[in-house]
Amino acid sequence: MNFEDKLAVKTAETEKILESYLPEETGFAARLAEAMNYSMRAGGKRLRPLFLKEAYLLFGGEEKVCEPFMAAIEMIHTHSLIHDDLPAIDNDDLRRGKPTTHKMYGEALGVLSGDALLNFAYETAMQAFSLSEDTGRIAQALMILAEKTGIHGMLGGQSVDVMNDGKVLSREMLDYIYEHKTSRLIEAPLMIGAVLAGADEKEVKTMERIGYLTGIAFQIEDDILDITSTAEELGKPIHSDEKNHKVTYVTLRGLEGAKEDARSMTDEAMKLLDSLPVRNVFLQELLESLIGRKR
Ligand code: IPE
Ligand code: IPE
Ligand code: MG
Ligand code: MG
Ligand code: MG
Repeated sequence: MNFEDKLAVKTAETEKILESYLPEETGFAARLAEAMNYSMRAGGKRLRPLFLKEAYLLFGGEEKVCEPFMAAIEMIHTHSLIHDDLPAIDNDDLRRGKPTTHKMYGEALGVLSGDALLNFAYETAMQAFSLSEDTGRIAQALMILAEKTGIHGMLGGQSVDVMNDGKVLSREMLDYIYEHKTSRLIEAPLMIGAVLAGADEKEVKTMERIGYLTGIAFQIEDDILDITSTAEELGKPIHSDEKNHKVTYVTLRGLEGAKEDARSMTDEAMKLLDSLPVRNVFLQELLESLIGRKR
């Protein structure tokens, strides 16, 4: 099977897992559950749960204990997107090819469904305790999930990002934003998959570094697509960064310089993956496929 076919199969498997952990749309809060599920079901590349599963397989994992974490990381990511699109942040109307959650359900449910997904992610991840006896690994994975997504992780990055719209940014501050808003949510699944499969400390550190590099390259490509792609292809508006007067890697380094940086960071990530005593060809192909991606 070629890479595209393997990716399609694995994405479909991931969709099934995610669906099985979504909240039921019943009772007085049914509308909240609907708003949560609307964006979760809208599609997306499912990259973070894929990374988690492939890191788990890389280190020999064979159980279902990674699945609640796959759902949890996609819930946290989706919460970050719902809130990122709100009028107070990027004020965008299109996400994953559909009207954004606040456009469909109103601003109040946009805020609340994001909050609810973030919280439900932890309820979901804790279901891992009923799938494995290895409570130590699960506790460590929960710690990573919490640290990488909160004030010292993604949310810290989002706050500095939004507070600096229209301002001149130093390279140091831009790096802080990218490392936090994007890399932390890619470091987390790579580390969690490794931890759940029993990787040692040094291997987990290597996965963290791979996630760091991949995340920066991923955000650079996202910034490039914001300029060069179309809303149809991306499923979200283009020129969102320009609209919000954002300084990005492309502003500081130019289109070609940004492309070069993304390429060299991906090369470094691939080398690190290669340096491990274990192999996962699909994970290598997945990393490579993100360079010059179409969406
Ligand atoms: C978008 O992430 C937010 C960024 C970190 C750039 P993705 O590009 O992974 O979005 P989906 O999940 O495919 O919709
Ligand atoms: C946001 O970056 C990253 C998140 C943590 C949501 P962007 O604002 O560039 O993401 P998109 O382009 O709206 O997906
Ligand atoms: Mg943003
Ligand atoms: Mg945005
Ligand atoms: Mg963007």
